[in-house]
Amino acid sequence: MESLQHSKEASGPGLHRKCQLRRRWWITIGIAVAIVVILVIVIPLAIILPRRGDKGGKPSSVIFPLYIYPETNSTWGPLYEAILTHPELEFLVIVNPQSGPGNGSLPDERYQQAIRQLDTYPNVQKVGYVRTGYAERNISDVLSDIETYSGWESQSASLAMSGVFFDEAPHQYEAATVDYLNRINSAVKNATGLTGDRTIIHNPGTIPDSRLEVPNTDITVVFEQSYDHYETSQKALLDDEKDVDRDSWAYIFHSVPTMSNSTIENFVDEISRKAAWLYLTTRTDSYYEYLDSSLERFCDVANPDLDFLVIVNPNSGPGDRDQPSPDHNYAREVPRLNAYSNVYTVGYIRIDYCRKPLQDSFDEVARYASWSEQYETSKLGVRGIFVDETPNHHSPERADYLDALTRYIKQSPGILGDKFVAHNPGTAPDSSLAEHAELTFVCEEPYSRYRSGEVQKWLELHPFDRARAGFMISGVPDDELHSLVQELRDRSAYFFVTEVVDDFYESFGPSSWGAFMQALQHNHQPQQDQEDEVPVAAAPTV
Ligand SMILES: *[C@@H]1O[C@H](CO)[C@@H](O)[C@H](O)[C@H]1NC(C)=O
Ligand SMILES: *[C@@H]1O[C@H](CO)[C@@H](O)[C@H](O)[C@H]1NC(C)=O
Ligand SMILES: *[C@@H]1O[C@H](CO)[C@@H](O)[C@H](O)[C@H]1NC(C)=O
Ligand SMILES: *[C@@H]1O[C@H](CO)[C@@H](O)[C@H](O)[C@H]1NC(C)=O
Ligand SMILES: *[C@@H]1O[C@H](CO)[C@@H](O)[C@H](O)[C@H]1NC(C)=O
Repeated sequence: MESLQHSKEASGPGLHRKCQLRRRWWITIGIAVAIVVILVIVIPLAIILPRRGDKGGKPSSVIFPLYIYPETNSTWGPLYEAILTHPELEFLVIVNPQSGPGNGSLPDERYQQAIRQLDTYPNVQKVGYVRTGYAERNISDVLSDIETYSGWESQSASLAMSGVFFDEAPHQYEAATVDYLNRINSAVKNATGLTGDRTIIHNPGTIPDSRLEVPNTDITVVFEQSYDHYETSQKALLDDEKDVDRDSWAYIFHSVPTMSNSTIENFVDEISRKAAWLYLTTRTDSYYEYLDSSLERFCDVANPDLDFLVIVNPNSGPGDRDQPSPDHNYAREVPRLNAYSNVYTVGYIRIDYCRKPLQDSFDEVARYASWSEQYETSKLGVRGIFVDETPNHHSPERADYLDALTRYIKQSPGILGDKFVAHNPGTAPDSSLAEHAELTFVCEEPYSRYRSGEVQKWLELHPFDRARAGFMISGVPDDELHSLVQELRDRSAYFFVTEVVDDFYESFGPSSWGAFMQALQHNHQPQQDQEDEVPVAAAPTV
Protein backbone atom coordinates (compact mmCIF):
# COMPACT_ATOMS: atom_id res chain seq x y z
CA MET A 1 0.00 0.00 0.00
CA GLU A 2 3.00 2.23 0.22
CA SER A 3 2.75 2.75 -3.50
CA LEU A 4 -0.59 4.42 -3.08
CA GLN A 5 0.75 6.81 -0.51
CA HIS A 6 3.69 7.60 -2.68
CA SER A 7 1.55 8.14 -5.68
CA LYS A 8 0.05 11.09 -3.91
CA GLU A 9 2.83 12.58 -2.00
CA ALA A 10 6.03 11.78 -3.82
CA SER A 11 5.30 11.14 -7.45
CA GLY A 12 3.66 14.17 -8.87
CA PRO A 13 0.64 15.38 -6.96
CA GLY A 14 -2.43 15.28 -9.11
CA LEU A 15 -3.80 18.62 -8.13
CA HIS A 16 -0.49 20.37 -8.34
CA ARG A 17 -0.26 19.37 -11.95
CA LYS A 18 -3.83 20.33 -12.51
CA CYS A 19 -3.27 23.72 -11.00
CA GLN A 20 -0.76 24.93 -13.53
CA LEU A 21 -3.45 26.63 -15.51
CA ARG A 22 -4.07 30.26 -15.02
CA ARG A 23 -7.81 29.89 -15.00
CA ARG A 24 -9.47 27.10 -13.17
CA TRP A 25 -12.80 25.63 -12.46
CA TRP A 26 -13.24 23.55 -9.44
CA ILE A 27 -16.41 21.80 -8.85
CA THR A 28 -16.97 19.47 -6.04
CA ILE A 29 -20.10 18.28 -4.46
CA GLY A 30 -20.85 17.20 -0.97
CA ILE A 31 -23.62 15.23 0.40
CA ALA A 32 -26.72 15.21 0.42
CA VAL A 33 -29.89 16.32 -0.35
CA ALA A 34 -32.25 17.45 -2.80
CA ILE A 35 -31.89 20.67 -4.60
CA VAL A 36 -30.32 21.19 -7.93
CA VAL A 37 -28.11 24.15 -8.42
CA ILE A 38 -26.72 25.26 -11.69
CA LEU A 39 -23.91 27.73 -11.58
CA VAL A 40 -22.74 29.41 -14.70
CA ILE A 41 -19.72 31.48 -13.91
CA VAL A 42 -16.79 32.21 -16.14
CA ILE A 43 -14.23 32.56 -13.42
CA PRO A 44 -12.40 29.62 -11.92
CA LEU A 45 -14.09 28.14 -8.94
CA ALA A 46 -14.42 25.00 -6.97
CA ILE A 47 -17.70 23.90 -5.63
CA ILE A 48 -18.34 21.49 -2.84
CA LEU A 49 -21.64 20.81 -1.29
CA PRO A 50 -21.55 19.75 2.27
CA ARG A 51 -24.50 19.46 4.46
CA ARG A 52 -23.48 21.60 7.33
CA GLY A 53 -23.80 20.11 10.77
CA ASP A 54 -24.05 16.74 9.14
CA LYS A 55 -24.49 14.00 11.67
CA GLY A 56 -24.88 11.28 9.14
CA GLY A 57 -28.53 11.93 8.36
CA LYS A 58 -29.75 11.05 4.90
CA PRO A 59 -32.35 12.43 2.59
CA SER A 60 -35.67 10.80 3.24
CA SER A 61 -39.16 10.67 1.89
CA VAL A 62 -42.44 11.00 3.66
CA ILE A 63 -44.82 8.08 3.95
CA PHE A 64 -48.09 9.74 4.83
CA PRO A 65 -51.05 7.81 6.26
CA LEU A 66 -53.91 9.98 5.06
CA TYR A 67 -56.87 8.49 6.90
CA ILE A 68 -58.80 11.71 7.01
CA TYR A 69 -62.09 12.27 5.24
CA PRO A 70 -61.83 15.48 3.17
CA GLU A 71 -64.84 17.13 4.76
CA THR A 72 -64.14 20.41 2.98
CA ASN A 73 -61.70 21.65 0.37
CA SER A 74 -59.41 22.83 3.13
CA THR A 75 -59.34 19.66 5.25
CA TRP A 76 -56.24 18.37 3.50
CA GLY A 77 -54.90 21.91 3.19
CA PRO A 78 -51.93 21.56 5.56
CA LEU A 79 -50.80 18.51 3.61
CA TYR A 80 -51.09 20.35 0.28
CA GLU A 81 -49.14 23.19 1.82
CA ALA A 82 -46.33 20.89 3.00
CA ILE A 83 -46.18 19.23 -0.41
CA LEU A 84 -46.05 22.56 -2.22
CA THR A 85 -43.42 24.09 0.01
CA HIS A 86 -41.16 21.03 -0.18
CA PRO A 87 -40.97 20.30 -3.90
CA GLU A 88 -37.75 18.34 -3.37
CA LEU A 89 -39.39 15.98 -0.90
CA GLU A 90 -41.25 12.94 -2.14
CA PHE A 91 -44.58 12.10 -0.51
CA LEU A 92 -45.98 8.61 -0.61
CA VAL A 93 -49.56 9.28 0.39
CA ILE A 94 -51.71 6.40 1.64
CA VAL A 95 -55.24 7.09 0.51
CA ASN A 96 -57.83 5.42 2.73
CA PRO A 97 -61.48 6.24 2.12
CA GLN A 98 -63.03 3.60 4.41
CA SER A 99 -60.39 1.29 5.88
CA GLY A 100 -60.07 0.35 2.24
CA PRO A 101 -61.45 1.71 -1.01
CA GLY A 102 -65.07 1.63 0.20
CA ASN A 103 -68.01 -0.42 -1.07
CA GLY A 104 -68.62 1.45 -4.26
CA SER A 105 -66.55 1.35 -7.40
CA LEU A 106 -65.44 4.91 -6.68
CA PRO A 107 -65.12 7.06 -3.57
CA ASP A 108 -67.67 9.84 -3.21
CA GLU A 109 -67.41 13.10 -5.11
CA ARG A 110 -65.67 15.02 -2.34
CA TYR A 111 -63.10 12.34 -1.98
CA GLN A 112 -62.53 12.27 -5.73
CA GLN A 113 -62.09 16.03 -5.74
CA ALA A 114 -59.44 15.79 -3.02
CA ILE A 115 -57.57 13.02 -4.83
CA ARG A 116 -57.58 15.04 -8.03
CA GLN A 117 -55.99 17.86 -6.10
CA LEU A 118 -53.27 15.51 -4.79
CA ASP A 119 -52.65 14.38 -8.31
CA THR A 120 -51.58 17.87 -9.34
CA TYR A 121 -48.35 17.64 -7.32
CA PRO A 122 -45.42 15.99 -9.11
CA ASN A 123 -43.80 15.01 -5.80
CA VAL A 124 -46.76 12.90 -4.68
CA GLN A 125 -47.27 9.21 -5.24
CA LYS A 126 -50.71 7.88 -4.21
CA VAL A 127 -51.23 4.35 -2.95
CA GLY A 128 -54.43 2.68 -1.79
CA TYR A 129 -54.98 1.30 1.70
CA VAL A 130 -55.90 -2.40 1.99
CA ARG A 131 -56.26 -4.32 5.25
CA THR A 132 -55.11 -7.93 5.36
CA GLY A 133 -55.95 -8.74 9.00
CA TYR A 134 -52.54 -10.39 9.52
CA ALA A 135 -53.21 -12.59 6.48
CA GLU A 136 -56.46 -13.82 7.96
CA ARG A 137 -58.84 -11.61 6.10
CA ASN A 138 -60.59 -13.47 3.30
CA ILE A 139 -58.17 -13.11 0.41
CA SER A 140 -61.05 -12.65 -2.05
CA ASP A 141 -61.90 -9.44 -0.21
CA VAL A 142 -58.29 -8.29 -0.37
CA LEU A 143 -58.08 -9.00 -4.09
CA SER A 144 -61.37 -7.25 -4.60
CA ASP A 145 -60.07 -4.12 -2.80
CA ILE A 146 -57.03 -4.11 -5.07
CA GLU A 147 -59.30 -4.42 -8.06
CA THR A 148 -61.42 -1.53 -6.85
CA TYR A 149 -58.41 0.79 -6.58
CA SER A 150 -57.26 -0.40 -9.97
CA GLY A 151 -60.70 0.50 -11.34
CA TRP A 152 -60.43 4.16 -10.29
CA GLU A 153 -58.06 4.79 -13.16
CA SER A 154 -60.68 3.93 -15.74
CA GLN A 155 -62.80 6.74 -14.37
CA SER A 156 -60.05 9.33 -14.59
CA ALA A 157 -56.25 9.27 -14.87
CA SER A 158 -56.07 11.78 -12.05
CA LEU A 159 -57.71 9.25 -9.71
CA ALA A 160 -55.17 6.54 -10.52
CA MET A 161 -53.29 4.90 -7.65
CA SER A 162 -49.71 3.80 -8.20
CA GLY A 163 -49.57 1.07 -5.61
CA VAL A 164 -51.07 -0.53 -2.52
CA PHE A 165 -50.35 -0.22 1.19
CA PHE A 166 -51.14 -3.49 2.96
CA ASP A 167 -51.95 -2.70 6.57
CA GLU A 168 -52.01 -5.36 9.28
CA ALA A 169 -49.43 -7.34 7.33
CA PRO A 170 -48.34 -10.52 9.12
CA HIS A 171 -44.96 -10.83 10.76
CA GLN A 172 -45.07 -14.45 11.95
CA TYR A 173 -44.18 -17.20 9.58
CA GLU A 174 -46.61 -19.81 8.32
CA ALA A 175 -46.38 -21.54 4.99
CA ALA A 176 -49.91 -20.45 4.08
CA THR A 177 -49.00 -16.86 4.90
CA VAL A 178 -46.22 -16.85 2.35
CA ASP A 179 -48.67 -18.06 -0.25
CA TYR A 180 -51.15 -15.38 0.78
CA LEU A 181 -48.55 -12.62 0.46
CA ASN A 182 -47.37 -13.90 -2.89
CA ARG A 183 -50.90 -13.82 -4.21
CA ILE A 184 -51.71 -10.31 -3.07
CA ASN A 185 -48.36 -8.98 -4.31
CA SER A 186 -48.76 -10.41 -7.76
CA ALA A 187 -52.30 -9.11 -7.89
CA VAL A 188 -50.90 -5.60 -7.40
CA LYS A 189 -48.17 -6.04 -9.97
CA ASN A 190 -50.77 -7.42 -12.39
CA ALA A 191 -53.38 -4.73 -11.83
CA THR A 192 -53.60 -2.86 -15.11
CA GLY A 193 -55.32 0.18 -13.56
CA LEU A 194 -52.48 0.84 -11.13
CA THR A 195 -49.86 3.14 -12.63
CA GLY A 196 -46.12 3.69 -12.38
CA ASP A 197 -44.10 1.23 -10.35
CA ARG A 198 -47.18 -0.31 -8.69
CA THR A 199 -45.42 0.14 -5.38
CA ILE A 200 -46.17 -2.48 -2.73
CA ILE A 201 -45.86 -1.58 0.93
CA HIS A 202 -46.35 -4.04 3.76
CA ASN A 203 -47.04 -2.81 7.25
CA PRO A 204 -46.37 -5.44 9.89
CA GLY A 205 -45.28 -2.56 12.15
CA THR A 206 -42.33 -4.62 13.28
CA ILE A 207 -39.54 -6.58 11.60
CA PRO A 208 -41.25 -9.59 9.99
CA ASP A 209 -39.91 -13.13 9.97
CA SER A 210 -37.37 -13.25 7.16
CA ARG A 211 -39.19 -16.20 5.61
CA LEU A 212 -42.04 -13.81 4.83
CA GLU A 213 -39.85 -11.91 2.37
CA VAL A 214 -41.78 -12.42 -0.83
CA PRO A 215 -40.96 -11.03 -4.25
CA ASN A 216 -42.18 -7.56 -5.21
CA THR A 217 -42.50 -6.04 -1.74
CA ASP A 218 -40.95 -2.60 -2.22
CA ILE A 219 -41.21 -1.14 1.25
CA THR A 220 -41.82 -2.66 4.68
CA VAL A 221 -42.94 -0.60 7.65
CA VAL A 222 -40.75 -2.19 10.31
CA PHE A 223 -41.74 0.18 13.08
CA GLU A 224 -45.13 1.68 13.80
CA GLN A 225 -45.34 2.56 17.46
CA SER A 226 -44.91 5.35 19.94
CA TYR A 227 -41.71 7.31 20.21
CA ASP A 228 -41.25 5.99 23.76
CA HIS A 229 -41.54 2.42 22.65
CA TYR A 230 -38.84 3.05 20.09
CA GLU A 231 -36.51 4.67 22.56
CA THR A 232 -37.00 2.13 25.32
CA SER A 233 -37.06 -1.14 23.47
CA GLN A 234 -37.00 -1.05 19.68
CA LYS A 235 -34.17 1.28 18.76
CA ALA A 236 -31.42 -1.18 19.68
CA LEU A 237 -33.20 -4.00 17.89
CA LEU A 238 -33.64 -2.04 14.70
CA ASP A 239 -30.10 -0.71 14.81
CA ASP A 240 -28.84 -4.26 15.12
CA GLU A 241 -30.32 -5.29 11.79
CA LYS A 242 -27.45 -5.44 9.36
CA ASP A 243 -27.43 -5.18 5.59
CA VAL A 244 -30.66 -3.29 5.51
CA ASP A 245 -31.53 -1.60 2.27
CA ARG A 246 -32.78 1.68 3.70
CA ASP A 247 -34.86 2.38 0.60
CA SER A 248 -37.01 -0.61 1.55
CA TRP A 249 -37.58 0.38 5.16
CA ALA A 250 -40.18 2.71 6.63
CA TYR A 251 -40.58 3.97 10.20
CA ILE A 252 -43.83 5.48 11.48
CA PHE A 253 -43.83 7.17 14.87
CA HIS A 254 -46.73 8.47 16.91
CA SER A 255 -46.83 10.17 20.32
CA VAL A 256 -43.64 12.02 19.51
CA PRO A 257 -43.04 14.52 22.32
CA THR A 258 -42.75 18.18 21.49
CA MET A 259 -39.11 18.81 20.69
CA SER A 260 -36.90 21.73 19.85
CA ASN A 261 -35.97 22.11 16.19
CA SER A 262 -32.48 20.81 16.76
CA THR A 263 -33.71 17.80 18.72
CA ILE A 264 -36.16 16.84 16.02
CA GLU A 265 -33.43 17.35 13.44
CA ASN A 266 -31.08 15.03 15.31
CA PHE A 267 -33.84 12.50 15.70
CA VAL A 268 -34.70 12.51 12.01
CA ASP A 269 -30.99 12.34 11.13
CA GLU A 270 -30.71 9.27 13.32
CA ILE A 271 -33.70 7.37 11.97
CA SER A 272 -32.99 8.40 8.38
CA ARG A 273 -29.83 6.33 8.47
CA LYS A 274 -31.91 3.18 8.68
CA ALA A 275 -35.09 4.01 6.81
CA ALA A 276 -35.66 6.17 3.75
CA TRP A 277 -39.43 6.43 4.37
CA LEU A 278 -40.47 8.27 7.49
CA TYR A 279 -43.49 9.66 9.22
CA LEU A 280 -43.97 11.09 12.63
CA THR A 281 -46.79 12.72 14.50
CA THR A 282 -47.13 14.16 17.98
CA ARG A 283 -50.70 12.81 18.25
CA THR A 284 -51.24 10.34 21.04
CA ASP A 285 -54.55 8.93 19.78
CA SER A 286 -56.35 8.67 16.42
CA TYR A 287 -52.86 9.19 15.09
CA TYR A 288 -53.67 9.39 11.45
CA GLU A 289 -57.09 10.95 11.51
CA TYR A 290 -55.98 14.49 12.06
CA LEU A 291 -53.25 16.55 10.52
CA ASP A 292 -50.56 17.31 12.96
CA SER A 293 -48.96 20.63 13.74
CA SER A 294 -45.48 19.11 13.60
CA LEU A 295 -45.84 18.28 9.90
CA GLU A 296 -44.17 21.40 8.60
CA ARG A 297 -41.17 21.03 10.85
CA PHE A 298 -40.82 17.36 10.09
CA CYS A 299 -40.84 18.09 6.36
CA ASP A 300 -38.23 20.79 6.84
CA VAL A 301 -35.79 18.38 8.39
CA ALA A 302 -36.63 15.25 6.42
CA ASN A 303 -34.87 16.53 3.36
CA PRO A 304 -32.98 19.75 3.91
CA ASP A 305 -31.68 21.75 1.02
CA LEU A 306 -28.31 21.13 -0.52
CA ASP A 307 -25.53 23.39 0.59
CA PHE A 308 -22.75 24.22 -1.81
CA LEU A 309 -19.24 24.92 -0.71
CA VAL A 310 -17.57 26.85 -3.47
CA ILE A 311 -13.79 26.80 -3.56
CA VAL A 312 -12.62 30.08 -4.94
CA ASN A 313 -9.29 29.63 -6.66
CA PRO A 314 -8.04 32.72 -8.54
CA ASN A 315 -4.62 31.34 -9.38
CA SER A 316 -3.70 28.29 -7.34
CA GLY A 317 -4.16 30.69 -4.44
CA PRO A 318 -5.50 34.20 -3.90
CA GLY A 319 -3.63 35.61 -6.92
CA ASP A 320 -0.22 37.00 -7.85
CA ARG A 321 1.38 39.15 -5.21
CA ASP A 322 1.77 42.11 -7.54
CA GLN A 323 -1.86 42.00 -8.61
CA PRO A 324 -4.87 43.15 -6.64
CA SER A 325 -6.67 40.32 -4.88
CA PRO A 326 -9.38 39.61 -5.67
CA ASP A 327 -9.27 40.66 -9.28
CA HIS A 328 -12.36 42.33 -10.68
CA ASN A 329 -13.94 39.06 -11.83
CA TYR A 330 -13.78 37.61 -8.36
CA ALA A 331 -14.80 40.85 -6.78
CA ARG A 332 -17.94 40.68 -8.89
CA GLU A 333 -18.74 36.95 -8.63
CA VAL A 334 -17.98 36.11 -5.03
CA PRO A 335 -20.59 38.53 -3.63
CA ARG A 336 -23.12 37.01 -6.03
CA LEU A 337 -22.33 33.59 -4.65
CA ASN A 338 -22.45 34.84 -1.08
CA ALA A 339 -25.95 36.11 -1.70
CA TYR A 340 -27.25 32.54 -1.81
CA SER A 341 -27.97 31.22 1.63
CA ASN A 342 -26.96 27.70 0.62
CA VAL A 343 -23.63 28.70 -0.88
CA TYR A 344 -20.55 28.72 1.27
CA THR A 345 -17.40 30.16 -0.32
CA VAL A 346 -13.88 29.18 0.76
CA GLY A 347 -10.46 30.21 -0.55
CA TYR A 348 -7.97 27.83 -2.17
CA ILE A 349 -4.31 27.58 -1.15
CA ARG A 350 -1.77 24.85 -1.73
CA ILE A 351 1.07 24.07 0.61
CA ASP A 352 3.28 21.62 -1.32
CA TYR A 353 3.02 18.97 1.37
CA CYS A 354 4.18 21.41 4.04
CA ARG A 355 7.27 22.38 2.06
CA LYS A 356 5.90 25.82 1.33
CA PRO A 357 7.21 28.25 3.94
CA LEU A 358 4.56 28.58 6.62
CA GLN A 359 4.73 32.35 6.44
CA ASP A 360 3.83 32.24 2.73
CA SER A 361 0.76 30.15 3.53
CA PHE A 362 -0.21 32.62 6.27
CA ASP A 363 0.17 35.45 3.79
CA GLU A 364 -2.21 33.79 1.36
CA VAL A 365 -4.79 33.21 4.06
CA ALA A 366 -4.37 36.83 5.06
CA ARG A 367 -5.03 37.95 1.50
CA TYR A 368 -8.31 36.04 1.47
CA ALA A 369 -9.11 37.49 4.87
CA SER A 370 -8.54 40.99 3.54
CA TRP A 371 -11.33 40.50 1.00
CA SER A 372 -13.94 40.92 3.71
CA GLU A 373 -12.76 44.32 4.97
CA GLN A 374 -15.90 45.97 3.62
CA TYR A 375 -18.12 42.95 3.88
CA GLU A 376 -21.17 44.92 4.99
CA THR A 377 -21.29 46.79 1.71
CA SER A 378 -19.30 44.57 -0.65
CA LYS A 379 -20.47 41.10 0.49
CA LEU A 380 -17.02 39.98 -0.57
CA GLY A 381 -15.25 37.43 1.61
CA VAL A 382 -14.70 33.72 2.20
CA ARG A 383 -15.83 31.52 5.05
CA GLY A 384 -12.91 29.13 5.17
CA ILE A 385 -9.83 27.77 3.44
CA PHE A 386 -9.37 24.72 1.24
CA VAL A 387 -5.79 23.55 1.75
CA ASP A 388 -4.54 21.54 -1.20
CA GLU A 389 -1.50 19.27 -1.15
CA THR A 390 -1.66 18.38 2.49
CA PRO A 391 0.57 15.44 3.48
CA ASN A 392 -0.79 12.05 4.40
CA HIS A 393 2.16 10.76 6.45
CA HIS A 394 2.63 12.02 9.94
CA SER A 395 5.78 13.72 11.07
CA PRO A 396 6.02 16.06 14.05
CA GLU A 397 7.00 18.95 11.78
CA ARG A 398 4.05 18.41 9.47
CA ALA A 399 1.64 18.11 12.38
CA ASP A 400 3.00 21.38 13.76
CA TYR A 401 2.70 23.05 10.36
CA LEU A 402 -0.95 22.00 9.92
CA ASP A 403 -1.77 22.89 13.49
CA ALA A 404 -0.26 26.35 13.08
CA LEU A 405 -2.08 26.87 9.78
CA THR A 406 -5.44 25.86 11.19
CA ARG A 407 -4.95 28.10 14.20
CA TYR A 408 -4.02 30.97 11.92
CA ILE A 409 -7.19 30.46 9.87
CA LYS A 410 -9.38 30.12 12.94
CA GLN A 411 -7.94 33.29 14.40
CA SER A 412 -8.27 35.41 11.27
CA PRO A 413 -11.13 37.82 11.86
CA GLY A 414 -11.38 38.41 8.10
CA ILE A 415 -12.24 34.78 7.42
CA LEU A 416 -15.99 34.76 7.98
CA GLY A 417 -18.44 32.47 9.71
CA ASP A 418 -17.25 29.07 10.85
CA LYS A 419 -13.81 29.51 9.22
CA PHE A 420 -14.08 26.09 7.65
CA VAL A 421 -10.82 24.20 7.07
CA ALA A 422 -10.64 21.49 4.38
CA HIS A 423 -7.56 19.41 3.55
CA ASN A 424 -6.83 17.61 0.35
CA PRO A 425 -4.18 14.90 0.67
CA GLY A 426 -6.12 12.96 -2.02
CA THR A 427 -5.78 9.78 -0.01
CA ALA A 428 -6.50 8.80 3.57
CA PRO A 429 -4.01 10.57 5.83
CA ASP A 430 -2.74 9.52 9.21
CA SER A 431 -5.47 10.35 11.69
CA SER A 432 -3.13 12.64 13.63
CA LEU A 433 -3.02 14.91 10.57
CA ALA A 434 -6.72 14.75 9.82
CA GLU A 435 -7.68 16.24 13.15
CA HIS A 436 -6.55 19.67 11.96
CA ALA A 437 -9.37 19.92 9.40
CA GLU A 438 -13.16 19.73 9.42
CA LEU A 439 -13.09 17.91 6.12
CA THR A 440 -10.43 15.77 4.44
CA PHE A 441 -10.52 14.54 0.86
CA VAL A 442 -9.52 10.93 1.36
CA CYS A 443 -9.85 9.79 -2.23
CA GLU A 444 -9.14 11.73 -5.37
CA GLU A 445 -8.93 9.24 -8.20
CA PRO A 446 -10.07 8.46 -11.72
CA TYR A 447 -13.01 6.08 -11.67
CA SER A 448 -11.09 3.07 -12.98
CA ARG A 449 -8.55 3.41 -10.21
CA TYR A 450 -11.26 4.04 -7.63
CA ARG A 451 -12.76 0.68 -8.61
CA SER A 452 -9.40 -1.13 -8.46
CA GLY A 453 -8.72 -3.63 -5.72
CA GLU A 454 -5.79 -1.54 -4.59
CA VAL A 455 -7.78 1.59 -3.85
CA GLN A 456 -10.73 -0.31 -2.38
CA LYS A 457 -8.41 -2.23 -0.10
CA TRP A 458 -6.71 0.97 0.92
CA LEU A 459 -10.03 2.58 1.80
CA GLU A 460 -11.02 -0.47 3.74
CA LEU A 461 -7.80 -0.35 5.74
CA HIS A 462 -8.19 3.36 6.42
CA PRO A 463 -11.75 3.92 7.54
CA PHE A 464 -12.67 7.56 7.88
CA ASP A 465 -15.55 9.26 9.63
CA ARG A 466 -18.15 9.79 6.90
CA ALA A 467 -19.17 13.21 8.17
CA ARG A 468 -15.61 14.50 7.67
CA ALA A 469 -14.67 12.66 4.50
CA GLY A 470 -14.65 13.90 0.91
CA PHE A 471 -14.29 12.03 -2.39
CA MET A 472 -13.52 13.35 -5.86
CA ILE A 473 -13.88 10.86 -8.68
CA SER A 474 -13.27 11.73 -12.34
CA GLY A 475 -13.78 9.86 -15.58
CA VAL A 476 -16.98 8.21 -14.37
CA PRO A 477 -18.83 6.36 -17.17
CA ASP A 478 -22.37 7.70 -17.62
CA ASP A 479 -24.08 4.48 -16.71
CA GLU A 480 -22.08 4.10 -13.49
CA LEU A 481 -22.76 7.55 -12.20
CA HIS A 482 -26.02 6.97 -10.40
CA SER A 483 -24.84 3.94 -8.48
CA LEU A 484 -21.53 5.62 -7.66
CA VAL A 485 -23.33 8.57 -6.11
CA GLN A 486 -25.42 6.24 -3.98
CA GLU A 487 -22.26 4.49 -2.88
CA LEU A 488 -20.34 7.67 -2.09
CA ARG A 489 -23.25 8.98 -0.10
CA ASP A 490 -22.60 6.24 2.40
CA ARG A 491 -18.88 6.83 2.44
CA SER A 492 -18.64 10.56 2.61
CA ALA A 493 -20.51 13.72 3.41
CA TYR A 494 -18.80 15.60 0.59
CA PHE A 495 -18.18 14.46 -2.90
CA PHE A 496 -17.79 15.37 -6.49
CA VAL A 497 -18.07 13.11 -9.50
CA THR A 498 -17.67 13.89 -13.19
CA GLU A 499 -17.35 11.99 -16.44
CA VAL A 500 -14.67 14.42 -17.58
CA VAL A 501 -11.25 12.76 -17.70
CA ASP A 502 -8.78 15.67 -17.93
CA ASP A 503 -8.92 19.10 -16.36
CA PHE A 504 -12.04 17.93 -14.67
CA TYR A 505 -12.39 20.84 -12.32
CA GLU A 506 -12.41 23.31 -15.14
CA SER A 507 -15.82 22.61 -16.54
CA PHE A 508 -19.10 21.01 -15.67
CA GLY A 509 -19.28 17.53 -17.16
CA PRO A 510 -21.63 17.92 -20.14
CA SER A 511 -23.95 15.17 -18.99
CA SER A 512 -22.66 14.14 -15.58
CA TRP A 513 -23.48 17.38 -13.83
CA GLY A 514 -27.19 16.98 -14.43
CA ALA A 515 -27.10 13.26 -13.80
CA PHE A 516 -25.16 13.79 -10.60
CA MET A 517 -27.71 16.26 -9.37
CA GLN A 518 -30.49 13.83 -10.13
CA ALA A 519 -28.72 11.01 -8.39
CA LEU A 520 -28.35 13.19 -5.33
CA GLN A 521 -31.95 14.12 -5.44
CA HIS A 522 -33.53 10.76 -5.99
CA ASN A 523 -32.14 8.15 -3.72
CA HIS A 524 -34.75 5.63 -4.64
CA GLN A 525 -37.16 4.53 -7.31
CA PRO A 526 -35.94 6.42 -10.29
CA GLN A 527 -38.87 7.72 -12.23
CA GLN A 528 -39.05 8.67 -15.81
CA ASP A 529 -40.41 12.10 -15.18
CA GLN A 530 -37.73 13.17 -12.74
CA GLU A 531 -36.64 16.07 -14.80
CA ASP A 532 -39.84 17.93 -14.18
CA GLU A 533 -39.31 17.68 -10.47
CA VAL A 534 -35.88 19.17 -10.35
CA PRO A 535 -36.02 22.68 -9.04
CA VAL A 536 -33.26 24.95 -10.19
CA ALA A 537 -32.11 26.95 -7.25
CA ALA A 538 -29.44 29.25 -8.46
CA ALA A 539 -28.18 30.47 -11.75
CA PRO A 540 -25.85 33.42 -11.49
CA THR A 541 -24.57 34.22 -14.92
CA VAL A 542 -21.98 36.57 -16.19
C1 LIG B 1 -63.63 23.02 -3.90
O1 LIG B 1 -62.76 22.91 -5.01
C2 LIG B 1 -63.40 22.63 -6.22
C3 LIG B 1 -62.37 22.43 -7.30
O2 LIG B 1 -61.14 22.95 -6.94
C4 LIG B 1 -64.36 23.73 -6.57
O3 LIG B 1 -65.05 23.40 -7.76
C5 LIG B 1 -65.33 23.91 -5.44
O4 LIG B 1 -66.17 25.03 -5.70
C6 LIG B 1 -64.60 24.14 -4.14
N1 LIG B 1 -65.55 24.21 -3.06
C7 LIG B 1 -65.49 25.14 -2.13
C8 LIG B 1 -66.50 25.08 -1.07
O5 LIG B 1 -64.61 25.98 -2.13
C1 LIG C 1 -70.74 -0.58 2.89
O1 LIG C 1 -70.73 -1.84 3.50
C2 LIG C 1 -71.00 -1.80 4.87
C3 LIG C 1 -70.80 -3.18 5.46
O2 LIG C 1 -70.74 -4.13 4.47
C4 LIG C 1 -72.43 -1.31 5.08
O3 LIG C 1 -72.71 -1.21 6.45
C5 LIG C 1 -72.53 0.07 4.45
O4 LIG C 1 -73.86 0.52 4.50
C6 LIG C 1 -72.10 0.03 2.99
N1 LIG C 1 -72.06 1.38 2.48
C7 LIG C 1 -72.51 1.66 1.28
C8 LIG C 1 -72.38 3.11 0.87
O5 LIG C 1 -72.97 0.85 0.53
C1 LIG D 1 -64.19 -15.75 1.03
O1 LIG D 1 -65.03 -14.98 0.21
C2 LIG D 1 -65.50 -15.69 -0.91
C3 LIG D 1 -66.24 -14.73 -1.81
O2 LIG D 1 -67.00 -13.84 -1.05
C4 LIG D 1 -66.37 -16.86 -0.45
O3 LIG D 1 -66.83 -17.59 -1.55
C5 LIG D 1 -65.54 -17.74 0.45
O4 LIG D 1 -66.33 -18.74 1.01
C6 LIG D 1 -64.91 -16.94 1.58
N1 LIG D 1 -64.00 -17.79 2.29
C7 LIG D 1 -64.04 -17.92 3.59
C8 LIG D 1 -63.01 -18.83 4.19
O5 LIG D 1 -64.85 -17.34 4.28
C1 LIG E 1 -50.08 -12.22 -12.64
O1 LIG E 1 -49.53 -12.33 -13.92
C2 LIG E 1 -48.67 -13.42 -14.07
C3 LIG E 1 -48.04 -13.36 -15.42
O2 LIG E 1 -48.89 -12.77 -16.37
C4 LIG E 1 -49.48 -14.73 -13.87
O3 LIG E 1 -48.61 -15.82 -13.96
C5 LIG E 1 -50.09 -14.68 -12.48
O4 LIG E 1 -50.93 -15.79 -12.31
C6 LIG E 1 -50.90 -13.44 -12.28
N1 LIG E 1 -51.30 -13.39 -10.88
C7 LIG E 1 -52.48 -12.98 -10.49
C8 LIG E 1 -52.74 -13.00 -9.02
O5 LIG E 1 -53.31 -12.58 -11.26
C1 LIG F 1 -38.41 25.76 13.98
O1 LIG F 1 -38.88 25.27 12.74
C2 LIG F 1 -40.04 25.92 12.24
C3 LIG F 1 -40.51 25.20 11.01
O2 LIG F 1 -39.53 24.52 10.35
C4 LIG F 1 -39.68 27.37 11.98
O3 LIG F 1 -40.83 28.05 11.50
C5 LIG F 1 -39.21 28.00 13.26
O4 LIG F 1 -38.80 29.32 13.02
C6 LIG F 1 -38.04 27.24 13.85
N1 LIG F 1 -37.71 27.76 15.15
C7 LIG F 1 -36.49 28.11 15.47
C8 LIG F 1 -36.31 28.61 16.86
O5 LIG F 1 -35.57 28.04 14.67
